Amino acid sequence: MSAPPVLSNTERPQDPRPQLRPPAGCMLIANPRAQRGPYPAALRSLMNLDRARENRRWLASWAALARGATPLHDLPDLAARLGVARLSVKDESVRSPLGSFKALGAPIALVRQILRRHPDLDPAALLNGHHAGLLQDTTVVSATDGNHGRGLAAAARSIGCCCVIVLHAHVSAEREQAIAVHGARIVRIAGNYDDSVEEAARLAAANGWQVVSDTSYEGYEDIPRDVMQGYATIAAEVLEQTGAAANEPGAFTHLFLQGGVGGLAAGVASCFWEFHGAQRPRFVVVEPRQADCLFQSAVQGRAARATGSVDSVMAGLACGETSPLAWRFLQPGIDAFMTIEDEAAVQAMRVLAAGSGQDIPIVAGESGAAGLAGLQALRSDAAGSAQLGLDERSRVLLINTEGATAPAVYEALVGETADAVLQRQAGWQAGARDAR
Ligand SMILES: Cc1ncc(COP(=O)(O)O)c(C=O)c1O
Repeated sequence: MSAPPVLSNTERPQDPRPQLRPPAGCMLIANPRAQRGPYPAALRSLMNLDRARENRRWLASWAALARGATPLHDLPDLAARLGVARLSVKDESVRSPLGSFKALGAPIALVRQILRRHPDLDPAALLNGHHAGLLQDTTVVSATDGNHGRGLAAAARSIGCCCVIVLHAHVSAEREQAIAVHGARIVRIAGNYDDSVEEAARLAAANGWQVVSDTSYEGYEDIPRDVMQGYATIAAEVLEQTGAAANEPGAFTHLFLQGGVGGLAAGVASCFWEFHGAQRPRFVVVEPRQADCLFQSAVQGRAARATGSVDSVMAGLACGETSPLAWRFLQPGIDAFMTIEDEAAVQAMRVLAAGSGQDIPIVAGESGAAGLAGLQALRSDAAGSAQLGLDERSRVLLINTEGATAPAVYEALVGETADAVLQRQAGWQAGARDAR
């Protein structure tokens, strides 16, 4: 395969809001293996809409999550600046006090794992701790860069089992604290995310614990599959919120999906693909340059490792190894993979926080804003945009996958606390109500 093109660096006009500078160093590869036919039966047997709907029903009974769907915000001013017809953000920062979409995956995987051993238990009763007595000697363990561990710790506490979370050297103290408040035991190791995945597997084998990981590896696929399928709730809600019709083109022509190990992208894209079939939107996966395992997988045509340092301000995306199970979905399902610089994600956080006359201010964490950074990079690259059919008629969906999950980091990067942004958001909403 020829080397992927480097995106160009053209200037955009001045604007009073934070600059949308085209970031340097972005890479883009159109996926030559992407398919546009119906959702393949082999994938459907692994992840499907029926299970996604069942997960959604179960999650509705978990008190840790907000009632109802998360908001789908339209940002018309930003759409105009980026030269697209529509730009919408599905805001997972308000999914729960856990702060990210990861709260959808761990509880489902944990419930499904317990049901494998106790098939007669009721999922809602489980999530509400009614079987805590039965499960008090069960211990679950996982590595995390923060958000998955937080979701797992909270789910384990609700269900009544014990939880051990393995953190690598780059996970901040405030992310550790956010996990520990849910009663999880923390194990700190030197090294990076991939080292913590290995350590979690070792601890589980040594102690008879159950790994509940968001990434798969050889011989370990059922639980990560359940985690990914929990994320499909996001897609199922969007389909409902936009009144989408099966096998017809939907409200969005392009989706930008953040990539860590690939679970979010696989969980969300598979749901849209099954629903829309050959009319599915185009999917673009966005990763940090230093943690480009999915981009490298696209280059090599198999689940691959990152080439960089695997250390990024986008902590949730700082993963060095592709989940092989996720890759089974991404290889045929994703139209393009791209990498962005840390600085681009920070700029995107500021742009979303600022809002404007017509755009609601949004608290987007480092990984949450990465989709916007990817879109912005692609809109400053005429050849890349043309290759992906991204133009002034495009309707783009972004997923704000996290809020200020590390509040001190957020304040340092955005120059404002998340609470201050939320106050401006409330003011914006009040103004919008008055105007109606
Ligand atoms: C906020 C956020 N966004 C996106 C991702 C990427 O998800 P995945 O690792 O499933 O690709 C993560 C992973 O932890 C995350 O925390």
